[in-house]
Amino acid sequence: MENKEKVKQLIDLRVQAKLGGGQKRIDSQHSKGKFTARERITMLLDEGSFEELDMFVTHRCTNFGLEKEKYLGDGVVIGHGTIEGRSVYVFAQDFTVFGGSLSETMAQKICKVMDLAMKMGAPVIGINDSGGARIQEGVTALAGYAEIFERNILASGVIPQISAIFGPCAGGAVYSPALTDFILMTEENSYMFVTGPKVVKSVTGESISTEDLGGAKIHATKSGVAHFRVENEQAGIEKIRELISYLPQNNLEEAPVVPCNDPINRLEDELNEIIPDNPNQPYDMKRVINAIVDNGKFMEVHENYAKNIIVGFARFNGVSTGIIANQPGFIAGILDCDASRKAARFIRFCDAFNIPLLTLVDVPGFLPGSGQEYAGIIIHGAKLMFAYGEATVPKVTVTLRKSYGGAHDVMSSKQLRGDFNYAWPTAEIAVMGAAGAIEVLEGRTISKMEDPEEKAKFIAEKTAEYKDKFSNPYQAAAYGYIDDVIEPRNTRFRVIRAFQALQTKKLSNPLKKHSNIPL
Ligand code: HXC
Repeated sequence: MENKEKVKQLIDLRVQAKLGGGQKRIDSQHSKGKFTARERITMLLDEGSFEELDMFVTHRCTNFGLEKEKYLGDGVVIGHGTIEGRSVYVFAQDFTVFGGSLSETMAQKICKVMDLAMKMGAPVIGINDSGGARIQEGVTALAGYAEIFERNILASGVIPQISAIFGPCAGGAVYSPALTDFILMTEENSYMFVTGPKVVKSVTGESISTEDLGGAKIHATKSGVAHFRVENEQAGIEKIRELISYLPQNNLEEAPVVPCNDPINRLEDELNEIIPDNPNQPYDMKRVINAIVDNGKFMEVHENYAKNIIVGFARFNGVSTGIIANQPGFIAGILDCDASRKAARFIRFCDAFNIPLLTLVDVPGFLPGSGQEYAGIIIHGAKLMFAYGEATVPKVTVTLRKSYGGAHDVMSSKQLRGDFNYAWPTAEIAVMGAAGAIEVLEGRTISKMEDPEEKAKFIAEKTAEYKDKFSNPYQAAAYGYIDDVIEPRNTRFRVIRAFQALQTKKLSNPLKKHSNIPL
């Protein structure tokens, strides 16, 4: 073959590789409203930045006549590129090749890109769209999954790992995304489950649709498996690019600082009046968040799961910050199992990647009852406490209203190494709310009272006495548990100043193999 022909051969092979499983299957993919692996990568990365690797890899399986059916690239497209100029590594399963099912060689490609990401200290983004283990390959495909799982585990806390689910993700295959930091699912076409509806029906007799078993809605609201639910793939790609902008490249770096055009001393008069006089009346904590962060921009994580706690990313004076906030607007912002797990995981992510934490507190306590006790609120609440107590990143806490009982300790209190703990004048830092406290303290006296008027007067007096003593931030401030009581409208400025002061914070935990967080 002449050299000219060799070049032509290369060009032809590249064209062939880019067709994956062929035009017919590409058309079928499009007809389902899905993009191909390469189209997805092109949308995700900065224009022209993608460098593809392993385009000529093919499978080596000879079972069931598979040696006669080979496709260049074999079911996954891998490589690296940039997002806003910062390096990322990507793999996208190609559903047009054997339904994106995982072969031994495909696993090797995914492992290669993960190894490179680790070596270079850059995030890895995986786009999942696959029928699971390649059935014809048997055990080598299973081993391939385990190779990927091990890398997910070792990369955890070293480089950010993001999983997009843009198609099927079933069986053991779900565990690779589950080991990563964030899972994003599209409204239609994506699903995740350990066993599909047919197996469920044959094993348990339950009839359930794919969507109800493992669709985006279920995982974004009920199971909490998905951190983000998006309308379509384009929206998902935008979300990933936005998420990356808040994150550092790896655990040894800081997140990028963005120029801030929002005045740091901006006063928000609205905040002086946002807390209702009636302590049982809710308000929307998101209004507080939006009012204090740079340009009102808040990227919420787990928006529709355990809505009694809010977590997400924002910036203060351009610095990426993780926010954890009780939401009095949803079941009074009480802590339950789901909220505790949700916040604990978010805190641990931020701590692993040097992202400072702001905690906004308005919490009446832990949700009582057998339902929560049987579900293990003791252990799940302990997760949240552990995450806060273990975190060494800068931690600023602002108590807006209620901070009662164990929940007070948990929510980034001074004793869990909160660096700067502020309170609004409306804060109530106490063992419990006034009504409950009086019932416990004066229950016997009250039960003996027969005259209803006398009873009501007595309760009112005692409640007022309790409120005077405890339903304020000053007892905690007198002990130095609260560093300052701040004017609500000035919260943005005080938070920014606190984080500025904490820039040089150095704190490390005792040397150990690893901790034993209550799982
Ligand atoms: C080999 C597969 C495949 C697989 C799909 N294909 N899944 N080939 N191994 N696992 C092929 C199909 O034969 C077909 O080939 C093409 O991919 C597209 O598949 P369709 O069925 O036509 O597509 P669709 O109707 O959209 O259905 C998609 C699907 C279905 C729901 C994913 O294909 C399916 O149920 N696949 C099997 C899923 C499964 O049971 N996987 C094993 C799970 S166990 P042609 O040539 O027609 O284009 C597992 C263990 C992992 O994964 C353990 C890790 C620890």
